[in-house]
Amino acid sequence: MGKSSSLVHSSTTFLLLLLFVNVYVSEASPTPESVYTSFLDCLTNHTNPSDQISNILFSQTNSSFSSILQAYIRNARLNKTSTPKPLLIITPMQQSHVQSTILCAKTIQIQLKIRSGGHDFEGISYVSNHQPFIILDMFNFKNITVDIQNEVAVVQSGAILGEVYYRIWEKSKVHGFPAGVCPTVGVGGHLSGGGYGNMMRKFGLSIDNVVDAEIVDVNGRVLDRKSMGEDLFWAIRGSGGASFGVILSYSIKLVQVPEVVTVFRAASSLDQNATEVVLQWQQVAPQTDDRLFMRLLIQPVSSKVVKGEITVRVTIVAMFLGGADELVAILGKEFPSLGLKKENCSEMSWIGSVLWWASLGNGSKPEALLDRNVDSAKFLKRKSDYVENPISKDGLEGIWKKVIELGKVGLVFNPYGGIMNTVASDATAFPHRAGNLFKIQYSVNWEEPGIDIENNFTNQARTLYSYMTPFVSNSPRRSFLNYRDLDIGTNDFGNNSYEQGSVYGMKYFNNNFERLVKIKTEGDPENFFRNEQSIPTHHGLDSNATGTGTSGADKLLLSSTYRKLIVNVVLVWFLILELFI
Ligand SMILES: Cc1cc2nc3c(=O)[nH]c(=O)nc-3n(C[C@H](O)[C@H](O)[C@H](O)COP(=O)(O)OP(=O)(O)OC[C@H]3O[C@@H](n4cnc5c(N)ncnc54)[C@H](O)[C@@H]3O)c2cc1C
Ligand SMILES: *[C@@H]1O[C@H](CO)[C@@H](O)[C@H](O)[C@H]1NC(C)=O
Ligand SMILES: *[C@@H]1O[C@H](CO)[C@@H](O)[C@H](O)[C@H]1NC(C)=O
Ligand SMILES: *[C@@H]1O[C@H](CO)[C@@H](O)[C@H](O)[C@H]1NC(C)=O
Ligand SMILES: *[C@@H]1O[C@H](CO)[C@@H](O)[C@H](O)[C@H]1NC(C)=O
Ligand SMILES: *[C@@H]1O[C@H](CO)[C@@H](O)[C@H](O)[C@H]1NC(C)=O
Ligand SMILES: *[C@@H]1O[C@H](CO)[C@@H](O)[C@H](O)[C@H]1NC(C)=O
Ligand SMILES: *[C@@H]1O[C@H](CO)[C@@H](O)[C@H](O)[C@H]1NC(C)=O
Ligand SMILES: *[C@@H]1O[C@H](CO)[C@@H](O)[C@H](O)[C@H]1NC(C)=O
Ligand SMILES: *[C@@H]1O[C@H](CO)[C@@H](O)[C@H](O)[C@H]1NC(C)=O
Ligand SMILES: *[C@@H]1O[C@H](CO)[C@@H](O)[C@H](O)[C@H]1NC(C)=O
Repeated sequence: MGKSSSLVHSSTTFLLLLLFVNVYVSEASPTPESVYTSFLDCLTNHTNPSDQISNILFSQTNSSFSSILQAYIRNARLNKTSTPKPLLIITPMQQSHVQSTILCAKTIQIQLKIRSGGHDFEGISYVSNHQPFIILDMFNFKNITVDIQNEVAVVQSGAILGEVYYRIWEKSKVHGFPAGVCPTVGVGGHLSGGGYGNMMRKFGLSIDNVVDAEIVDVNGRVLDRKSMGEDLFWAIRGSGGASFGVILSYSIKLVQVPEVVTVFRAASSLDQNATEVVLQWQQVAPQTDDRLFMRLLIQPVSSKVVKGEITVRVTIVAMFLGGADELVAILGKEFPSLGLKKENCSEMSWIGSVLWWASLGNGSKPEALLDRNVDSAKFLKRKSDYVENPISKDGLEGIWKKVIELGKVGLVFNPYGGIMNTVASDATAFPHRAGNLFKIQYSVNWEEPGIDIENNFTNQARTLYSYMTPFVSNSPRRSFLNYRDLDIGTNDFGNNSYEQGSVYGMKYFNNNFERLVKIKTEGDPENFFRNEQSIPTHHGLDSNATGTGTSGADKLLLSSTYRKLIVNVVLVWFLILELFI
């Protein structure tokens, strides 16, 4: 009797213990506090005490949390109280911090978002709508080393383009780098996604001038071009870095720019010659001298002729790597409807043109390019398309009508051609090369908050995109990764991850998509590095049935299900045992 009662007693204790474990194992989604605690524990375990790792970890309750989060938000649409927030933010100061962050995020099974300059148009570097997440914020990685003698520079991913241009200019007035026009754009997202600017027709994309890179992979290894291999090096030039690892730096080849370059801005309205100008622009801009880049803006504006009426204004904003006389001569011959005169042009240094394109104001100093503290932004929505055949006069007139009817959304035509025609579409992961006359950006900015306004304006962009279908590329309709657009498809990392990934993946990467999937599957088979539009994994034979391999998150669910199952089997077994005692 005594023996059996003590057995009952000890098995009751054991039962309680099992119940506790059962409750513990079925624990719901992580709380910010628990993630912070386990993350700090893990980081502390993975770093030297001298690293003072806690200084780079910001919990939601930290008084600096909001300002750190907001410092690199560049789209007010993603700066709302209702926008999902990270459970914590890590701001690494050195590469070991990045390595341990990756290992710890893997250990505690949390989605890691990587942010450099924060210019992603859908904010996928700092927002996730589906899963709890943390942010690895690279803004401290901003070293830039310029070597003029060898015409190369090493730029860390958290540097901004303005800093890159400035540091080159400090050392040489006849060198530059082909990248975007907005100085606060980050190197990490810009270069990995392709990166284009007003020297694209002469020197190609930013990635065409990348010669090496440093990345931390899913196992926490720091790899350079040699150790990562040509496949991965190919992938992180055009497909975005965030599917493959954390990019620490890119090594870039500088390009030679003339001492004097020329810019102009020329506007015309419909009653002047706008339709004629756009017709001729389509012939000239993609074919002309590759030193000349003529961006074309199409915007709905208030009519100066009829009050209260909306009309279309066409503006050409151009950059020529040479003097004004030569430019006027070229355009006089090729583009007579523009009627460009020397008085319409401004000659300046290359760094002057960088300031001019950034609209930093006439008379501003190059130091203005170093300003990161633009803690305000408009509400933005962008979409993109590629045009392979000129749009007819009738086509353009229909577009004007639509733009006027909608009233807010505008179009930006960026000409291709030049060297873009001679780089193979599989030379890098960026596929949009020969055959494209120009890229369209659908662009709408607004300043008033409110969900109705937001829906109105984002829908305008979608309506115009839909209207443009007959004029743009199809099967697949192509998109530019750096103009991130979640409308074209997203991934929920579930059973159909590969199929979902193919939808946006074919638009962004076309025939390069399958190679990217292969590189992704080999390097990160558990899909740790994932986001709404990341490259999916694809695990061969059985994957056509299930769509994808099991992601890390799925594994966690699975293993916790198994653990619960085992615990419950043991529990039932003990209950049965007790009945017999
Ligand atoms: C005002 C404005 C002007 C722009 N002008 C141009 C232009 O002229 N030309 C052009 O090509 N594009 C332009 N863009 C688009 C811009 O190139 C992309 O948004 C680019 O991805 C921004 O890079 P980022 O580092 O600032 O962005 P982030 O938002 O920080 O990152 C963008 C993406 O890259 C990933 N990522 C960032 N850093 C890393 C890293 N270190 N390792 C791995 N993955 C990383 C992020 O996770 C995210 O998926 C512009 C955008 C804005 C808002
Ligand atoms: C950290 O290390 C301690 C001691 O080795 C260990 O008990 C603890 O579980 C570790 N924590 C994490 C989160 O790895
Ligand atoms: C906020 O976090 C930083 C970095 O971890 C830390 O140095 C600081 O003391 C924290 N501040 C508060 C008020 O918790
Ligand atoms: C940047 O360079 C300085 C000086 O060499 C160095 O101390 C620092 O660690 C570097 N920062 C990063 C993030 O690599
Ligand atoms: C050139 O400048 C003149 C005088 O300011 C102006 O009337 C004309 O419209 C400009 N031409 C272009 C193409 O901008
Ligand atoms: C309009 O275009 C025509 C044809 O190219 C050209 O001859 C004319 O000068 C242009 N008119 C204006 C006002 O620019
Ligand atoms: C800048 O200002 C100077 C002097 O005020 C003027 O001569 C020059 O044309 C301006 N440049 C541009 C690009 O507007
Ligand atoms: C984000 O919102 C805060 C106020 O909540 C504001 O101070 C900040 O300027 C905003 N930043 C951007 C980029 O919209
Ligand atoms: C949408 O925006 C347009 C242009 O600003 C405006 O005229 C229209 O009234 C708006 N519609 C709604 C439903 O808000
Ligand atoms: C994924 O597939 C498995 C096996 O076919 C199925 O049991 C599971 O419910 C599916 N999950 C989702 C989210 O559809
Ligand atoms: C999986 O599907 C793709 C596309 O439908 C097909 O090309 C491939 O052969 C299939 N693979 C297997 C192993 O069935």
